[in-house]
Amino acid sequence: MSQNPSHRHAPEGDLVLTAFEGVVGAANLLATVGDMARYLVDARGRYRGAALCVVRPANTAEVAATVAICARAGIAIVPQGGNTGMCGGATPGAQGRSVVISLERMRSIREVDPANSTITVDAGCPLAAVQEAASEIGKLFPLSLGSEGTCQIGGNIATNAGGTAVLRYGPMRDLVMGIEAVLPDGRIWNGLRGLRKDNTGYDLKHLFIGSEGTLGIVTGAVLKLFSQPAASAVALVALPDVGAALALLERIRCEFGERVTTFEVMSDSEYQLVLALRTELRSPLAGQAPWYAFIELTDAIEALDLRTALAETLGEVMEAGGINDATLAESGAQAENIWHIRHSVTEANLKAGAAVSHDTSVPVSRVPEFVAGVEDGIRTRFPDAKSYFVGHIGDGNIHAIAIFPREKFLDPQRFSEVAGEVNALVDEVTVSLGGSVSAEHGIGRSNRARLQRHKDPIELEFMRQIKRVFDPAGLMNPGILL
Ligand code: FAD
Ligand code: MLT
Ligand code: ZN
Repeated sequence: MSQNPSHRHAPEGDLVLTAFEGVVGAANLLATVGDMARYLVDARGRYRGAALCVVRPANTAEVAATVAICARAGIAIVPQGGNTGMCGGATPGAQGRSVVISLERMRSIREVDPANSTITVDAGCPLAAVQEAASEIGKLFPLSLGSEGTCQIGGNIATNAGGTAVLRYGPMRDLVMGIEAVLPDGRIWNGLRGLRKDNTGYDLKHLFIGSEGTLGIVTGAVLKLFSQPAASAVALVALPDVGAALALLERIRCEFGERVTTFEVMSDSEYQLVLALRTELRSPLAGQAPWYAFIELTDAIEALDLRTALAETLGEVMEAGGINDATLAESGAQAENIWHIRHSVTEANLKAGAAVSHDTSVPVSRVPEFVAGVEDGIRTRFPDAKSYFVGHIGDGNIHAIAIFPREKFLDPQRFSEVAGEVNALVDEVTVSLGGSVSAEHGIGRSNRARLQRHKDPIELEFMRQIKRVFDPAGLMNPGILL
């Protein structure tokens, strides 16, 4: 067993480590500072913690045995997937008393059922691997995120992830048919049902979706598959303002119905930031515009010429002055370039300075008011910052980002105070429009105070009671969500 050189465990700690080693073997019990390092910091380097050890089980039985040891010893557990979460939910606290359970070795595709249009997978399967397995049988698993190469199905379930195809297929909550989970006392709940109809009372799986590791560890899932699109059209559109994006979305939806798979927007500030930082990317548009829309239409029927139909519609809207310019991808490579621009925002924002990001949803019709309110507030109350917007306008989910020059905030404490003030400004606008302070990223460690402030007290009370029913000892991901 490897020991942490800087920290001698108490004898009972040694016993627990020995017990974990008995379950997963020495190679999958990490207890030195060096071995644990990458599990103790999140993907953006914003949250850092400490842990007693990291355990890497190979299957559900090993997860259950590990959790049972923790339950007996009263040790807190931090479930960890791909560690790409935005809110610090997979990073342990600073005290070093919890155990990180990483699902990275649980990557099996357990079963593909084409006739039922389902796939059953281990929770540690990376999202991209599930997409690939679906595509191998001519089907589609539609969840699509910038982090899809790394994030895992268990993490997608625990955060109820969204992304760029929610408009057509819904968030993770709409894509999960069954769940297997290890409960905080070590029992295994097998809810791996592939049923499209099951009206037998409360639906437990929905409590796990969006629970951020606070009720148990998701170890497997049955997911819905769809027809693979055979025809598609991808367009990048330059717009005079964000209101024009809404009008265009409405027009395109009227004409193409559910073929509108993706409709995303980006402010020019964000667009220029991405192009400046990712110099290998080229804008396919001739000039600049205040806003851009990224559109994808798809259909299962190959003969449908979606590209020509979309070009005609965009031409008409342009003639009527509703958009400034538009370009349609003529090849897979051109479509990829357009999506590359869209998916580079997280990296660009991280490099651009001291960024305060938000994950707001408001009713779709009120997005222009949200953008105007935030832009105005940042300009007047934080003159050092610049505002950037990107997001899923079809879901009413816009990410508003305020970026300050990094040198202004060498002191992290001062940055965190200012970030709190920016959050308060954005929340004020959000709440006035009947919105939510977290649309798709979750609450984690970073948004707990905002949840307490803005969630209905009755909902909060029931959430706390549900947490107590599953986890009376409070060992599952303490300090996260509630
Ligand atoms: P982790 O980060 O490991 O964990 C997230 C939370 O889930 C933690 O609370 C953790 O304890 C819990 N958890 C993880 N696995 C399990 C499990 N098996 N059982 C129980 N609890 C578990 N998110 C979006 O919604 N939409 C986007 O468009 C989007 N784009 C992104 C782009 C980039 C470049 C990056 C870096 C992130 C993006 N994200 C996005 C955020 C992130 O990828 C998602 O939240 C994702 O679902 C997290 O999955 P993960 O496996 O990395 O989870
Ligand atoms: C996105 O929409 O690109 C993601 O949610 C990531 C982000 O907000 O940075
Ligand atoms: Zn997003």
